[in-house]
Amino acid sequence: MKKIAVLIGTRPGIIKMTPLVHELNERNINNIVIHTGQHYSDTMNKQILVDVGLEKIDYFIKRPQNCITHAEQTAYMLVEIEKILLIEKPDILLVCGDANTNFAGALAARKIHVKVGHVEAGLRSFDWRMPEEHNRVMIDHISDYLFAPTEKSKAYLLKENVKGKIFIVGNTIVDSTLKYTKNYRFTKNNNNIDKKSDYIVLTTHREENVDNQAILFNIYKAIKNISEKHKINIVFPIHPRTKKRTDEYNLFPMLKNIKTLKIIKPLNYIQMLQLVKNAKVVMTDSGGLQEESCILDVPCLTLRDNTERPETIEVGANKIVGTNPKTIVEAFDLALLINDKHWVNPFGDGHTSKRIIDTCVLGKPENEFIN
Ligand code: UD1
Repeated sequence: MKKIAVLIGTRPGIIKMTPLVHELNERNINNIVIHTGQHYSDTMNKQILVDVGLEKIDYFIKRPQNCITHAEQTAYMLVEIEKILLIEKPDILLVCGDANTNFAGALAARKIHVKVGHVEAGLRSFDWRMPEEHNRVMIDHISDYLFAPTEKSKAYLLKENVKGKIFIVGNTIVDSTLKYTKNYRFTKNNNNIDKKSDYIVLTTHREENVDNQAILFNIYKAIKNISEKHKINIVFPIHPRTKKRTDEYNLFPMLKNIKTLKIIKPLNYIQMLQLVKNAKVVMTDSGGLQEESCILDVPCLTLRDNTERPETIEVGANKIVGTNPKTIVEAFDLALLINDKHWVNPFGDGHTSKRIIDTCVLGKPENEFIN
């Protein structure tokens, strides 16, 4: 019987990999869960594990305190993951997406001949400033199983001549989003926002945005202009990286002057889904939120010059607006006018985890996802 190792470490990774762990457990397939500790604070990690019911972590790697740069982060994870793989000897290591966690895991596994399965393979922003783009490309080229969400991602992989086998399976984010919004009821939360209020959700955490003072200032300026023009509530769950940079650049006084802006700690997963589902518009540079807002029929404006999720643009759910305040405000005005907020979700039917586990166990999914 095959033994499957599942690697997690960041908030989005937990959301996207948990459906696979549940599928493995339901089928009684031998598995281990490894957490790299890349995200360690309660808001980014602990509560979300409870929300998705992932309480059994077999190995939790402790992040060293002085671990700051990409190299330091990747290096400690590489060494620690290898130790675990040598003890456990799984047949396949499943990694997801583009965080440093997943590159470290894929590389550790490749070197000791553990097969690598890349969940969310073939995404490309073609933006070489992004650490995530480096990671995606490298992981795809050392994986044995490439689980592409869509035809488009498969096409990118074919063009790059990857060595592994490609399967179109959809994206596990649909499995999670549908599951955790199914029985959901909107409760007024501690931000005093309820579903009757009109509000938008703002998030930004990408290194190329928030580690650049001028760009972060421009994003905040756009938010200020939108607030003054529309008097609409703006809920801003602030990521730890963004909080740090906003402080360093002394931008908190500017934010405090934006009357309708509510800055809050990162929400737990279920609360965040509720917040997004009832928002008028989502403004973000997160990849996961572009997908979630598309699945939940909420228009999204992407605060970047590109996206590795072009499917969301093609169905009319998302628009690339960059970081220029004028462009952002104009796009926001138009987004408010969208009446038909229903589009076909391009990322699948909520059975992606089943297809991936079928492939790990049987060599192929019972049926590929056609989009
Ligand atoms: C990482 C991923 C990114 C993903 C994001 C989701 C990489 C290259 N990037 O970016 O793809 O979209 O996670 O959040 O892997 N910090 C805390 N508490 C935490 C985690 C981080 O305070 O639990 C702070 C630390 O000071 C850290 C900084 O935030 O240095 C950035 O964290 P890091 O994990 O390096 O990158 P993210 O920006 O979260």
